[in-house]
Amino acid sequence: MKETEKLNITKSLQLFEEALTLVPGGVLGARKPTDFIVGEYPIFLESGKGCRLTDVDGNEFIDFLCGYGPIILGYRETEVDDAVYQQIKDKGFCFTLTQKYQNLLSKKLKTLVPCSEMSIFLKTGSDATTASIRIARAHTNKLKVMRCGYHGWHDWCVEMKGGIPSKFFEDVFEFQYNNLKQLEDLMAAHGNETAAIIMTPFGHPNHQKMQIPAPGFLEGVRKLADQYGTVLIYDEIRTGFRVSMGAAQKYYGVTPDLTVLGKAIANGYPISVVTGKKEIMMAAAQKLFISSTFFPNSEAFVAALKTIEILERDKVLENIWEKGEGFMKRIQVLIDKYDVGAELTGIPPMFYITFKADDTGAYKGKRKDFYTQLIRKGFFFTPFHHAYISYRHTEKDLDLTLNAIDESLAFIKGKYK
Ligand SMILES: Cc1ncc(COP(=O)(O)O)c(C=O)c1O
Repeated sequence: MKETEKLNITKSLQLFEEALTLVPGGVLGARKPTDFIVGEYPIFLESGKGCRLTDVDGNEFIDFLCGYGPIILGYRETEVDDAVYQQIKDKGFCFTLTQKYQNLLSKKLKTLVPCSEMSIFLKTGSDATTASIRIARAHTNKLKVMRCGYHGWHDWCVEMKGGIPSKFFEDVFEFQYNNLKQLEDLMAAHGNETAAIIMTPFGHPNHQKMQIPAPGFLEGVRKLADQYGTVLIYDEIRTGFRVSMGAAQKYYGVTPDLTVLGKAIANGYPISVVTGKKEIMMAAAQKLFISSTFFPNSEAFVAALKTIEILERDKVLENIWEKGEGFMKRIQVLIDKYDVGAELTGIPPMFYITFKADDTGAYKGKRKDFYTQLIRKGFFFTPFHHAYISYRHTEKDLDLTLNAIDESLAFIKGKYK
């Protein structure tokens, strides 16, 4: 199989050169070129529609990152955008006081998400995870936190500790997904002082294979939280409105005390949620000040209400599961056929192709070559983050993608004999 020709990303590179003089590092966080494959991926996008992206050089891609998660329907989803434009034009969205939409959204969440009795609304996932910890600490009058997964960029949980006094994170302990024994040991040592266990209910640790819950894992964590009077928080920023309308907690049948939601709830508009049991949520009113000028802005509430309406009306998640199941099966057939160390993990709405680590480190080269071939062919996956499927991926788009995966694996097979 021949190597696919490199993309022309001249304008992206020029913009990045300029950005380096204007923005520290050029671009922020996970959008950095080093989080993809340097010199192969575009750095600046021009537009998107449905499941397709166009970069500033005019290259087109079928996208499987979905804006890092928020795009559950598709880019520029007319019905959602129109509802927002209408709100902005007819009523406005940034006011001195709150508009009614927070009540509507809170009521809706109560009907959908098992743990939801009361909600507060914020802007980013990091806002919500941090608020949930503060609520748990205020409710329990305890300090320590057990955490599992990525929970954003705030002081208590960010991986890069630069600029943060150690006292901000010294009461936070990390445990691995599906390692109940490790959490049991941590709780045996610190459980009586532990305010919260915060975890992703489905395992998607950064840069690593995805993990479904081992039998008894979620139930075991629930039991530990109850045993020690600790608030169990599910970080469903990625899984909410993607795994099921009631989030992963509904799908797996274990109910936490609090949940944080964000990303897919509003198809890209900025809103996040802490929702949960009334008794615990009330700490937010009685003991805490949680506020931002922009938290009550209604455009994202309107987008969330419209997105949820469409998800329910068009059975979007059922559609994504069905397409994704077939897609994953067919990817697995290709992986078995070429046998080059590729591995497929995850669940149909969110899945990941990784390469098994080997002693020689060849897997790193295979990973680089595989994702390089895909991006050059016009398929936007990345080596360091799992993929998502949106409603607007058609069976035809998935067929095209399978063909590209087939060719890319054939290329690896030929290169690494
Ligand atoms: C599981 C999880 N929690 C929290 C966050 C933080 O959300 P945000 O980037 O909106 O601050 C993310 C972001 O990727 C996430 O995936």
